[in-house]
Amino acid sequence: MGHLHAAGIIDEGIYPVALKIAVPKTTTANEARVAASPETVKKLIDMGCEVRIESGAGTTASVTDEMFKEAGAKISKTAAETCKGANIVLSVQPPKESEIELLPKGSLLVCLMNPHDNGPLIDKLAKAGINVFAMELVPRITRAQAMDVLSSQANLAGYKAVLDAAEQFARAFPMMMTAAGTVSPARIFVMGAGVAGLQAVATAKRLGAIVSATDVRPASKEQVESLGGSFVAVEDDEFKEAETAGGYAKEMSAAYKKKQAALVEEHIAKQDIVITTALIPGRPAPKLISEKMIKSMKPGSVIVDLAVERGGNSELSEAGKVVKKHGVTIVGHNNVPSRIAASSAALYAKNLLNLLNILIDKESGTLTIDWEDEVVQGIALTKDGKLIHPQFSSAKKPAAKKTTKSTTPEKPETSSKKAANSK
Ligand code: NAI
Repeated sequence: MGHLHAAGIIDEGIYPVALKIAVPKTTTANEARVAASPETVKKLIDMGCEVRIESGAGTTASVTDEMFKEAGAKISKTAAETCKGANIVLSVQPPKESEIELLPKGSLLVCLMNPHDNGPLIDKLAKAGINVFAMELVPRITRAQAMDVLSSQANLAGYKAVLDAAEQFARAFPMMMTAAGTVSPARIFVMGAGVAGLQAVATAKRLGAIVSATDVRPASKEQVESLGGSFVAVEDDEFKEAETAGGYAKEMSAAYKKKQAALVEEHIAKQDIVITTALIPGRPAPKLISEKMIKSMKPGSVIVDLAVERGGNSELSEAGKVVKKHGVTIVGHNNVPSRIAASSAALYAKNLLNLLNILIDKESGTLTIDWEDEVVQGIALTKDGKLIHPQFSSAKKPAAKKTTKSTTPEKPETSSKKAANSK
């Protein structure tokens, strides 16, 4: 197919007109991040782009209009003014339905689309002629690591989860030997040792806790141990095959889950803090902590459930809340990366810049999308009014009821999106 050029960017085919990049201010509750940083603005301008940012878009991520202006951005008062005539719209969250009309037809929208749950919205964006790229679908290949928002954001969420636990925990993390007596170290158990979990292990170690972790992917064992944590898992034949080619976990069989629960039950009763991060793409989060396990924990213990937005790993966690159940504080903050917004926005913006680097031709300063590129194929949901992503092309149809199988296919299924949505 070769390269396609966005219409209206080449002025009569001779003089290139600057690509217009818009960054509207988020209207999503509890979202403090912004999709640009002074650093990325400067780089985009060096690439020949014009960057327009809505006034106040960076405030909650500690970036003022002045800082953006100094980097070369133009500041607009309203979202409509910001997006007017834009070729590319950068955002953290997807637009609300009422905001679709602000996006110019034929423009490229790059954001976190949460595509498993947002079928109808994606359909509407397609109908409005918006080309949508979903950042959470960046393939996990070496070349795309610098664009991997799931990693950049999960890493910070893992760090923040430990601090959130520390805030709720009425004891110290490290062992302290003082004249008044010895404070024993906190025991922290991390469930799910992917990007967030490994950062939680590292952070908890730095704070002096005794750290253990579990996962269903064998590769995680060595990673946990190399960070100074001990590994706790049912290491049977199913465990040895639990990783997909994409590096993600499969849903485990009922038999495995039973064995895992028995092991976890015994371990959890001795822990002070449990941080859960276990996810399976496109499916509800696996339930790893039962009410019985929570009851077995010491009073004052803390659970931080990072999977709460996908149904939670813990039975009693509540999305967006910190609750106390059976003497245990269960932290269920939504959107944890946004709780450390200055850092997470800076990395998210950098991920976007790295993506734009492969979409913008530096010679001509035009948007030159290679639709055959593996990264583009991974993230492109819509193009020229149509849903084009093979995984989500049936997104507008209601999800078929399906019983959960004991094994998960390599790719998450669209039909499971409704289940994943249920809290
Ligand atoms: P994730 O956010 O989808 O899941 C978090 C963790 O939960 C995973 O480690 C998963 O194995 C675990 N999990 C799922 N079900 C579980 C269960 N029942 N019990 C215990 N743990 C369970 O995964 P994440 O953090 O995004 O990363 C997954 C892997 O991908 C990691 O090995 C990571 O290093 C790798 N990766 C590779 C990249 C690349 O090659 N470009 C980039 C980023 C990550």
